[in-house]
Amino acid sequence: CKAHKVAILPGDGIGPEIMDQALRVLTTAGKAEGAEFEFTRALVGGAAIDATGNPLPKETLDICKASDSVLLAAIGGYKWDTLPAEQRPERGLLGLRAGLNAFANLRPAIVPPQLADSSPLKREIVEGVDILIVRELVGGIYFGQPRGFGTNDKGERIGFNTDVYSEPEVERIARVAFEAAQKRQKRLCSVEKSNVLEVSQLWKEVVIRVAKDYPDVELSHMYIDNAAMQLLRNPKFFDVVVTGNIFGDILSDEASMLAGSLGMLPSASISGDGPGIFEPVHGSAPDIAGQDIANPLAMVLSAAMMCRYDLKLPKVADRLETAVNSALDQGWRTKDLWKEGTNLVKCSEMGDILVKLVA
Ligand code: NAD
Ligand code: IPM
Ligand code: MN
Repeated sequence: CKAHKVAILPGDGIGPEIMDQALRVLTTAGKAEGAEFEFTRALVGGAAIDATGNPLPKETLDICKASDSVLLAAIGGYKWDTLPAEQRPERGLLGLRAGLNAFANLRPAIVPPQLADSSPLKREIVEGVDILIVRELVGGIYFGQPRGFGTNDKGERIGFNTDVYSEPEVERIARVAFEAAQKRQKRLCSVEKSNVLEVSQLWKEVVIRVAKDYPDVELSHMYIDNAAMQLLRNPKFFDVVVTGNIFGDILSDEASMLAGSLGMLPSASISGDGPGIFEPVHGSAPDIAGQDIANPLAMVLSAAMMCRYDLKLPKVADRLETAVNSALDQGWRTKDLWKEGTNLVKCSEMGDILVKLVA
């Protein structure tokens, strides 16, 4: 059988630490199912800036394009925080998403029963939560032109960005969301700010038009400010959420607290053709980097999404997800989720436990 070609982008901060664990676990799970991987490492973010001066070297993009999938840990850190915007590590990540046209970012926010008491919210609020945030990833205010710095007519310095979506951009992300909803509870909530923003009025109109093709899906609309509140008040209202780039970024970090840690949330960034990018929702956590205390589970679950969505290896994905579940059942917790009555483990020890469980 042919080896699955995966581009490995460890990035910065805790990135290399969680990637090491995820690759051990993935390789072992693959072996158990007769699947082989060919990993090609490449530089992105701060690591790429240090080595080449560019957060997304051409070689990296070429390696990614020639792979079946891209597995990315996280980028960024204090060291590069004072660079001008266009030279920062974050631009490497954005360039990669745009370069692979990975417009649909699927961010599941699931509360495993074992973590229902780990959220700062009450158990009865979060127990059973299973939300899929569908975030548009290559448009909106992150990429809109014009952007930059300038001076206003009073001679004061200004910074500006443009939030812009075209009808086809909204239509394609809406279709991804409706199709996902059809396979789930058939409820879709479109989140925007159409009471203020033209870009959101267009968004809402297009979503309503696309909804005609999915009569079995119940569509609702919510303003972002209310959605941010409802996500805490009654998260079980939500099945699939579709939203633009920046709102999806914010709502997904917020949703992570339903499960008690940002270190639990994986994501898939896909275009429908060509390699997808599989990356945790969290960043490089420079505040805890180098201590072997990061939670590697979001990274492992991202590898599981890669096996399911891109590599068509559902049995490997099942193995990874089952192992994460069993490790939680057995009470193993990294520092972010540790509390009285659970067993504190390092990042690498969680890797050891998962390797045994997937074998
Ligand atoms: P962050 O997600 O890195 O960290 C936020 C908080 O969550 C920190 O206290 C961190 O310690 C904790 N945390 C995150 N992941 C964790 C894990 N796996 N285990 C345990 N704790 C975890 O966000 P930030 O601090 O705002 O940003 C740090 C850097 O990461 C910045 O440079 C930012 O641009 C970058 N970033 C990158 C990505 C990405 O690569 N996809 C995503 C978000 C932020
Ligand atoms: C994420 C991150 C990125 C984003 C940054 C690092 C560019 O926060 O993946 O959620 O805003 O998309
Ligand atoms: Mn984010």
